[in-house]
Amino acid sequence: MKGIILAGGSATRLYPVTLSVSKQMLPIYDKPMIYYPLSTLMMAGIRDVLVISTPIHLPAFERLLGTGEDLGMHFEYKVQEKPVGLADAFKLGEDFIGNDSVALILGDNMIYGSNLEKVLKEASKLKKGGIIFGYKVADPTSYGVVEIDKKGNAISIEEKPKKPKSNLAVPGIYFYDNDVVSIAKKIEPSERGELEITDINKEYMKQGKLRVIPLGNGYAWFDTGSPERLLDASDFVKAIEVRQGIQIACLEEYAYKNKWISKEKVLLHAKKYNKTEYGKYLKSVIEEKTWN
Ligand code: G1P
Repeated sequence: MKGIILAGGSATRLYPVTLSVSKQMLPIYDKPMIYYPLSTLMMAGIRDVLVISTPIHLPAFERLLGTGEDLGMHFEYKVQEKPVGLADAFKLGEDFIGNDSVALILGDNMIYGSNLEKVLKEASKLKKGGIIFGYKVADPTSYGVVEIDKKGNAISIEEKPKKPKSNLAVPGIYFYDNDVVSIAKKIEPSERGELEITDINKEYMKQGKLRVIPLGNGYAWFDTGSPERLLDASDFVKAIEVRQGIQIACLEEYAYKNKWISKEKVLLHAKKYNKTEYGKYLKSVIEEKTWN
């Protein structure tokens, strides 16, 4: 399975901060935002990742993440000229995806939970259809909203409904079979002028091929599109990292656990970060002093 991180958009709700810096490059506490969705794909065992961003911001992501070799991974980069919607990622990523299945994650979504790795590894085994997640929120009106029946099958899915039929918001992580490329090519822009991921999900639902996995109470999901939510995510990460002495979204940790890089390589990274908690944590990963 391939992975795509969509890190585009103009982030106008974060102006003036994002007038010259990409939103997905802003820190969530102690790491660039894109580390969080990237670590989520790594948790799923995904090794080939395409990063999509604007013509202005893409070079900064290339500088930050490089070829992926340092993590035993393979990164590619693609410009999205205009923010025409999430579903555009599959059109831009057609060559990269090839004949594979693909997971899309939004560059501003952060998910955290103790069982997450297992759930994602399971989802990445997908052979046919699509998998989305459902997360209960108090106000789902600014998200995709999915309604499920008693068996957990999707019965309706709407983008930013004024009157939501459920309070299950759809987080910005999606797993699809290869059909997603042809489905993305067929959908038309919505009223807000975007190629909606919700329309892709509707198509899978119509074909009876959309699974919804509920993320229960033990999970935290943040999208970081506004100053308040960005700070909430930072506060959350700080609370856990400082209290437990761990690092969330430590890329080298997942690369090591997935057996993509050696101990020696982790130690090299640890040296580079030796003035930080991140560096100290990397050493403890090698010494197997962590339990997670
Ligand atoms: C997008 C999707 C929406 C999803 C949300 C998750 O919204 O369109 O369905 O629930 O991401 O963050 P947008 O970021 O475009 O407002």
